[in-house]
Amino acid sequence: MDQLAFDAWAEPRGVGQAPGAQPFLQVVGLSHHFGKTQALADISFSLGQGQILGIIGRSGAGKSTLIRCLNGLQRPDTGAVLLEGVDLTRLKEDGLQIARRRTAMIFQHFNLLSSRTVLDNVALPLKLAGVGRAARRARARNLLERVGLAARADAYPAQLSGGQKQRVGIARALAASPSLLLCDEATSALDPETTVSILDLLRDINRDLGLTIVMITHEMNVARRIADLVLVMARGRVVEQGPVRQVLTDPQAEETRQLLQAAALGFENGEGI
Ligand SMILES: Nc1ncnc2c1ncn2[C@@H]1O[C@H](COP(=O)(O)OP(=O)(O)OP(=O)(O)O)[C@@H](O)[C@H]1O
Ligand SMILES: [Mg+2]
Repeated sequence: MDQLAFDAWAEPRGVGQAPGAQPFLQVVGLSHHFGKTQALADISFSLGQGQILGIIGRSGAGKSTLIRCLNGLQRPDTGAVLLEGVDLTRLKEDGLQIARRRTAMIFQHFNLLSSRTVLDNVALPLKLAGVGRAARRARARNLLERVGLAARADAYPAQLSGGQKQRVGIARALAASPSLLLCDEATSALDPETTVSILDLLRDINRDLGLTIVMITHEMNVARRIADLVLVMARGRVVEQGPVRQVLTDPQAEETRQLLQAAALGFENGEGI
């Protein structure tokens, strides 16, 4: 990794940005294809530190491909992903490994290790980072307290509900003090009430830590509950983006209207949030 990249990350991280400061995350002209499929087509957006971005779109819209570009797991064909001023698409593998420590991810199916206790699952990223046993267990206990699961530290994942498992996923994601949290359909496997409690927890963490969050979802109601900004994707393109209130009350794109209609139907069925 070059010196420039190290310098950018050595700077102290305050909440909020100085006027005129570069955005926390800036995506410029991102395109990627798999064979003949154009998964991403000229995606551009930017995000300030501490903001929550909801990325919405139907299945196959390119959401997961985009989020994988944001943590360097997917190298795009063209375009730039500037995280705190450092272009992830230009880093070599060693630089990328450092960059990935700045981001953490939570998943639809939690991805916990079934053979390890809740505490050990949360402490695992710290173990991989070389933190000593006592220190990592102390931090894991603190994080479990934050997500309301201190009493279940010695349980195994199979003994927890879906909502509790996602709380463990969130605690684990926070372990290495990331500056960007990526969520890929993190509430899609949960019932509406549990979804609300997880979204509220993420909102609290965002407020308390100034953590920037990018949340992928196919549900407009998830974005409505938590996001500051919304980006609507269809067929690999951004069809609409803006502040959540603006996009929800005055949608411009047909795809946005359809997603809003689906959300309204969910409400009628008692599935709304
Ligand atoms: N590794 C891959 N190899 C080939 N095609 C892929 C690969 N990953 C994604 N695609 C294709 O790229 C397009 C976008 O996929 P992506 O997984 O990013 O969509 P998504 O919005 O996350 O969908 P979902 O809501 O179903 O998770 C789809 O047409 C998909 O089939
Ligand atoms: Mg996906």
